[in-house]
Amino acid sequence: MSSAGTKPIRLGVNIDHVATIRNARGGHHPDPVRAAQLVATAGADSITAHLREDRRHIIDDDMRRLKEEIDLPLNFEMAATAEMLQLVSEVQPHACCLVPENRNERTTEGGLDVAGQHNFIAPFVRELSDIGARASLFVDPEKRQIEAAKLTGAPVIEIHTGAYYEAATATEPARIAAEFEKIKAAAEFADSIGLEVHAGHGLTFHNVQPVAAIPQIAELNIGHFLVGESVFMGLAEAVKEMKRLMQDVRTGGHY
Ligand code: PXP
Repeated sequence: MSSAGTKPIRLGVNIDHVATIRNARGGHHPDPVRAAQLVATAGADSITAHLREDRRHIIDDDMRRLKEEIDLPLNFEMAATAEMLQLVSEVQPHACCLVPENRNERTTEGGLDVAGQHNFIAPFVRELSDIGARASLFVDPEKRQIEAAKLTGAPVIEIHTGAYYEAATATEPARIAAEFEKIKAAAEFADSIGLEVHAGHGLTFHNVQPVAAIPQIAELNIGHFLVGESVFMGLAEAVKEMKRLMQDVRTGGHY
């Protein structure tokens, strides 16, 4: 049964790169928790932060403060490690998004290989559920990975939109269309087997609307572009504009 059609769409704002700027100088400014407060007032529906193994941006104390000081649901993005599981049980976030992590990558480069790691990921998902965190698996838009995600018992997948972003950046219409079709088919399939569908990575004012128009998608998680754009228009205005673009297309607007 598909629940597509009337679902509202939520915006999760990833504030990692506020911490990147802070860490460039050390110290406390700009504070990602203050950024989260601001985006909450601008209409964000949740806050996402990725605690990487190397702590290159978000640090443990940011996670604790985000949970304590922000009223919005906290989505704790992380690799599936024992250290992160311990922190999740301490912080008690609303949700956890499991991502692959590679020390040398600039950003999360691909989705999780859930199909190849069922016996590792399924127990991890159960542990998250026992802690009370809603597990989401970050996967490429591939049916095989989505079927495997369902088998782990995770209630949510997040579709990696990085290949679509790359195609849009290269302004290659045929590639953009092909990558978009993969996201759309993946969202339809995931919804049809009862998964909640999120998406994210590389979304901008220019490429968000086709993705936001896919009715099965319940949430987009967006970070780098919003923090970058805040240099020019301010973070609150950037979040408001992103939300407007997402909602306009969802309520029948064209792009
Ligand atoms: N979702 C996930 C799972 C991610 O790893 C990232 C990047 O950290 C994002 C969304 C947001 O991507 P971007 O910063 O490119 O908007």
